[in-house]
Amino acid sequence: MKKIFKKLFSVNRIDLISKYLNSSNSLILEIGVHRGDFSKELLKNFNPKKLVLVDPWLAFDEVEYENSFYGNKYKDGQKIQNEFYKEVMKIFESEILNNKVEIIRDISENFFNKNKAKFDLIYIDGNHLYDFVKGDISNSLECLSEDGIIVLDDYRLKGWWKDGVTKAVDFFIREKKICFLEKHNLFNYHHQCVIKKI
Ligand SMILES: C[S@@+](CC[C@H](N)C(=O)[O-])C[C@H]1O[C@@H](n2cnc3c(N)ncnc32)[C@H](O)[C@@H]1O
Repeated sequence: MKKIFKKLFSVNRIDLISKYLNSSNSLILEIGVHRGDFSKELLKNFNPKKLVLVDPWLAFDEVEYENSFYGNKYKDGQKIQNEFYKEVMKIFESEILNNKVEIIRDISENFFNKNKAKFDLIYIDGNHLYDFVKGDISNSLECLSEDGIIVLDDYRLKGWWKDGVTKAVDFFIREKKICFLEKHNLFNYHHQCVIKKI
């Protein structure tokens, strides 16, 4: 059944974000970069003044990460993460030189502790466990521009992260710290949510 809704009502994440991010002079932050696929899309479609990419490219040994993109089930996880990091550095080689893209190899918490910039878009797609998403939302709320938006991937998807994204978003909704501009449902199928600060 879900497959049918997906086929009929799929919305592309760039199209979704385009509805709320107008400025081509924006400052964009992506938390969780992996191989840079979505980072390329953000750069191409929104031509930001600067795109900041944060990812530790670190393999996690704990069993709960076994099925994640950054698990270490076969003990070659760190080698793979190092390769991904090198790949991403290569993809954005010229933009890094022009100071249009900045790559920070660290966990988001450390990034936020040092950050002073205000972002127009923060795309949260890092560690999907509840406490981490909660931390990312809380920190993001402190560094949004006046009309800034936060978008989260994998909203309303359970996965190995046990629905951590949905639960963390719903926590801030209940606390009346954020409101939805858009959220996934069967007729608006994208597993994203777009939120803003109240
Ligand atoms: C789902 S992938 C990101 C995919 C990417 N946004 C895309 O759409 O192409 C999740 C990434 O989060 C990173 N990650 C894990 N823990 C993190 C943390 N604490 N802070 C930032 N990134 C983290 C992982 O290394 C992994 O590359």
